[in-house]
Formats: sequence, structure tokens, C-alpha cells
Amino acid sequence: MKAKNITSTYLVGITGTLCLLTILIISSIGCDEASPSELVVIPAKMTQYCATCHGADMEGGMSQSLLDGNWQFGGERRSIFRWIKFGLPHVGMPSWQTVLSDDEIYEIVDYLLEEEKRRGITKPPIPDSLETRDYKIKVEKYVEGLEIPWSIDFISSELALITERPGRLRLVENGILSSDSVVGTPSVLHEGQGGLMDVAVDPEYDQNGWIYLAYSHVLPADTSEERPPAMTRLVRGQLEGMNWTNQQVIFEAPHETYRTTRHHYGCRIVFDPAGYLYFSIGDRGTSEHAQDITRPNGKVHRIHRDGRIPNDNPFVGQAGAIESIFTYGNRNAQGLAVHPETGQVWETEHGPLGGDELNLVIAGNNYGWPVITYGLNYNGTIISENQRKEGMEQPIMYWNPSIAACGLDFYSGDLFPKWQNRLMVGALRFEEVQLLEIEKDRVIYSQTILKNAGRVRDVATGPDGAIYVVLNRPGTILRLTPASMEAELQ
Ligand code: HEC
Repeated sequence: MKAKNITSTYLVGITGTLCLLTILIISSIGCDEASPSELVVIPAKMTQYCATCHGADMEGGMSQSLLDGNWQFGGERRSIFRWIKFGLPHVGMPSWQTVLSDDEIYEIVDYLLEEEKRRGITKPPIPDSLETRDYKIKVEKYVEGLEIPWSIDFISSELALITERPGRLRLVENGILSSDSVVGTPSVLHEGQGGLMDVAVDPEYDQNGWIYLAYSHVLPADTSEERPPAMTRLVRGQLEGMNWTNQQVIFEAPHETYRTTRHHYGCRIVFDPAGYLYFSIGDRGTSEHAQDITRPNGKVHRIHRDGRIPNDNPFVGQAGAIESIFTYGNRNAQGLAVHPETGQVWETEHGPLGGDELNLVIAGNNYGWPVITYGLNYNGTIISENQRKEGMEQPIMYWNPSIAACGLDFYSGDLFPKWQNRLMVGALRFEEVQLLEIEKDRVIYSQTILKNAGRVRDVATGPDGAIYVVLNRPGTILRLTPASMEAELQ
């Protein structure tokens, strides 16, 4: 076991500040002597092109080791391939697409992954503690053994609700996960990125007991169609013991707008101080629909909590419009959060290869997808020459390359006073939680408070003031609290 500091410097923001942050990560490296027959030879192209920065043995030189099990930008074969092909211009990693063929790049990726495996290098375990600029943090495993947990919300500090994407709503009572899931929740289409997504507890839960769920709803199979169409749907219901009861559908799109694709469903649910419910639906893989207000996809919607459409929604009365639409031109928003003081709704959406955005959600605005974007297509080609256009909003901030920005919450508890109203951003691909300091409509500072513990699907302030981080791979929820009061660094 050896301790080592990883520094990450990839943040790009229009108004954001570039920052350095050191995180303590423990890496365990077991180096067994390999028999000669098992030796994997470093591909010649690597020695030729990569050694200058990553070292002759690829274990680090001017730039980081590629064989230590730490993948700052995501360790999936596909991600590593992309970073080599297209580069990481903002951190000084060149693009190799004009020098190396795809096959040569895959040879390199497979060498790195095989060599890691051969050396028994595994991902560092989740640390027990973290050190950030402001606090020493204790990291506990709140719940383990979940299958693709998607979201967490709290009825009280004793009772939490967790969704698992395959379609289960789980309860955690006094830190103990119910062995069964809630009975009678809607059946979901768990395919691709679809399934049971967000869970949200009504702001007046104590009086009305409502709980909201968002999920992928599929139409009955039609024999002529290979894949029945699906769309994001919202229901609310109540808990009676372990039973889901009194269900009401509060958002269902016209069935002719359902799509046969299985990705980009969104969906987050939040409530503003006036009690409106906001939710997001991704573009469902048809980017031009994001500009079409007769389509529900590629939008942020606003409704009353019982599903009625507010009279002052921006497109009410427009011919053909889906009247719940509040903003459009949103690619795939999986983060929504309401600022505790201003009541403003903030949103993160996934960009394609680069161009994840942080936006302030304002009635009627067009956020530009796919007409303007800071992203590239997955094949590296330009999606749009335009990054700005009259009548289309600029993001408050964007990330290049994509961190895969997911769940979002403002910190609003008592345990980390210096972090009041900071925006916590979970990132799937970068496996991290960023903490953004926001002043009016600008990000003035950013730091990474958790790195490489797993893909971060959601983050939330608990009623106890702790920070809860929903991880995928492993399906674990972490609970972060200050290590001790004296441990405050300032
Ligand atoms: C000019 C220097 C330079 C060269 C040459 C270079 N890289 Fe990099 N590479 C970097 C930098 C800088 C980073 C960002 C991480 C860091 O700070 O070390 C990086 C990051 C990476 C990453 C992402 C690692 C992670 O943690 O996710 C991969 C993969 C990678 N390089 C592969 C390659 C390969 C393969 C080659 C040769 C074809 C190569 N690099 C050549 C500078 C270089």
C-alpha cells in the first residue's frame, strides 16, 4: 500500500476558475513476477509517441503513469480510446487521430488494460477519509450492494428512499437497507439508459405523503414493431408500509411522441419555493427534437405537483406545443437543483464528446442544443460550427472533455458551514464530485472533493447535514461528514 497525491486540472469554464486540488487516494499495487511467456510487450507506437510524456515504461514521466489503475478521465475501454484519439487539449494530452489508426489506438488501449490486469493492479479502494481545502472528511459506506442506484431522497433523517434503475424503490431506515423493495411501484422499461430514475419527496410530505417517481414508460408491444416506443413518465404515490398506493400519473407525453430509442430519458425532479415541480427529459437520441416545442424530449418541464399545467408556462396556448415545457434546447439533463436562497433552478446536461453544460433554468429560454454546442460528435467530427447564436443561451459553465455531469444539489446542511449554498456536481465518467462556488450567475471557484470512488450518479444533502453520494460500480452510497470539528483546516 502506498499513499499518493493525484492532482486534477481539467476544469474549463466560461466564467469558471481553473483550480488545482489535491486528493488523497490510496493505491494498492501488487507486482507479481510474471513468467516470460506472460510478458506483454509495449506496443512500438507507444514507445515512439507516448514515452516522452508518460515515461519509457508508461509508469509516468512528465505526465502521469498509465499503469497505476487510476483513470482520471474514466477507465472504460471506450473512454481511454477516445482520449487517445481526440486528445485532452485542456490538460496537454495531444490528439493522435492523424498519426495512429483506430486499430493502433485499440492495440494501445488493450495493452494498457491487459498489463494492468497482469500486474494485478486494481482500482484503489474507497478511502475512509478525504482531505479537501476546507475540511477533513470521514467517508462511510451508508448502503452497499445496490444495483445501479440512481437517486436518493429523504423523508426524514431516519428514513431515506433510493431508486435502483432496474425498477426497485428501496427504503433505508436508520441506516439499514430494507431487504425487499416497495411493492406496487410502476413497472419500468429497463433497457439501455432507461429504467426507474428519480425519486423525490413532496416539500409538504408531512401533510400529504406524496412521493414522486420518474421512469421509462413503454407502450404495449405492437407485433409490427420490433421495439415498442418509450418515453419518460412521472407518477406520484404514497407509502403504506412497504406498499406503493394511491398512484396518480402526473406527466405522460402524447403517445405519438414516444421513441423507440433506449437512451437520453433525463430525468430529475425538483421543487421550487413556490411549489412547482420541474423535471427534465433528454432528447431521446433525436437531437433536432430539442428545438421542437411540439415534442417533449430535449426539454425542462414545469408542472403543478398534481400534474396540472401552470397558466403562465411559456408555451401555453401556442398551437401544438407541449404546454408543460419550461425551457428547450436541452440535450440530456440529469441534474436539477434549486438554490436554497434565490430559489433559482440550476441544471446540468450531458454534452456529447465534451460540452457538458451548467445552465440556469429560465422560463422560455432556448439552450441551443443541437444548433450551438461546445461538444463534438463521438467520432470527433464537429456538430456545429456555432457555439453562440442570437436568441440562444450560453451555459454558465461547460466541461471539456465531458465529465458526464449527473446528479446535482446545493449543499444546505449544518455540518460543512463553509460549503453553504455550494453546488455539488456528480460526474459519472470522471467518477468525482465537484463543488462549485456560485456568485449570482457565475461560477467563481471549483474544487473536486471526491475522486475515483465510483461513477457518481447523484449527490444530496441529507437532513442530518451529511453529504450523500450515490455511486455506480460499485452500487454504494457514501455518507460524508467532517472528520472532527478540530480538523477544520482554517
Ligand atoms: C506531450 C505530452 C504527452 C504525450 C506525447 C502523450 N500524452 Fe497522454 N497525457 C498527457 C497529459 C498531460 C495527460 C493528462 C494527465 C496528466 O496530467 O498527466 C495525458 C493523459 C493521458 C490519458 C488519460 C489518463 C487518465 O488518467 O484517464 C491517456 C489514456 C493517455 N494520456 C494516453 C497517451 C498515449 C497512448 C500516448 C501516445 C500515443 C500519449 N498519451 C502521449 C500528455 C501526453
